[in-house]
Amino acid sequence: MIVTTKELFKAAYGKYAIGAYNINNLEQTMGLFRGCIDSQAPFIIQISKGARSYTHKLMLEGLIRSADQVFPDAIFAVHLDHGDEETCYDCINSGFYSSVMIDASADPFEKNIEITKRVVEAAHKKGIVVEAELGQLGGVEEHVQVDEANAKLTDPAQAKEFVERTGCDSLACAIGTSHGAFKFSGSQGLHFDVLERIQKLLPGFPLVMHGSSSVPQDEVARINAAGGNLAGAKGVDPTQFKHAAELGVTKINIDTDGRLVWTRVHREYFLAHPENFDLRPVGKIFMSEYAKFIAEKNAYLGSNNQLEVVRKLVGK
Ligand code: G3H
Ligand code: 13P
Ligand code: ZN
Repeated sequence: MIVTTKELFKAAYGKYAIGAYNINNLEQTMGLFRGCIDSQAPFIIQISKGARSYTHKLMLEGLIRSADQVFPDAIFAVHLDHGDEETCYDCINSGFYSSVMIDASADPFEKNIEITKRVVEAAHKKGIVVEAELGQLGGVEEHVQVDEANAKLTDPAQAKEFVERTGCDSLACAIGTSHGAFKFSGSQGLHFDVLERIQKLLPGFPLVMHGSSSVPQDEVARINAAGGNLAGAKGVDPTQFKHAAELGVTKINIDTDGRLVWTRVHREYFLAHPENFDLRPVGKIFMSEYAKFIAEKNAYLGSNNQLEVVRKLVGK
């Protein structure tokens, strides 16, 4: 059942975070739904601009609508990840998305406000929820690349002003994470002090943590042992998710870790079966491993076993 992101945030705020997982294809979709049903967790399925153009944006919509039928107990929202203004309008008008992210974080403060405000006005007219971003994460995104030294943590006072002036429904804050598999070169970590100050100024307001993959070291070691080259990859400690949730983080974005599962499964499979050229045996292993990974992640987020509570709250 597709619900609004707002309903999920209301259920989770201060208690746990909802996992927001990116999908690009059938196998990820199946693994995600299966993992969330196995762990009894509500979730957010997110689609980036790159995912929309990987094949055709309608393919993902079709996959998700079918998954909703195959897994009738699932409760989830559908979200545009890192949208530009044009893509936000396309999703708002599609009648399919529960929420959109307008990412104008690379623009100056006033310009970010101006763009975000326009998207909020258009989205709210159709009952769609808007995530915006203030501050800059390090790493690579679709249209922006920021090195670690130039990443800018979110300024709490600016965050309050930004939310009040734009009317956005949730805010992605930069608190030390970055996108991709190489998040920390030294002993850096999450800036909970910044999060605490934002929560004090915006009590009850849903915050979002991007770049939250954990980049498990055993996964990296297995990929490298099977011919990969991901030396130095490092991520966020998932035992910190619950503390982040207490500080108002209701949505935690995870994409890279899923890609690592995909890479490990495929590298190991084809190394062990050099004679094989059938895509289905390895696809089946991936779906099962991805479901296991999702269920484990949901336990770290605290969203596991929340499905029935959420079902009652959304009244469906
Ligand atoms: O933050 C970006 C997400 O991981 C999506 O990545 O733009 O390569 O689909 P993508
Ligand atoms: P990771 O690269 O850490 O998985 O972050 C994903 C993300 O923030 C998607 O918006
Ligand atoms: Zn992101």
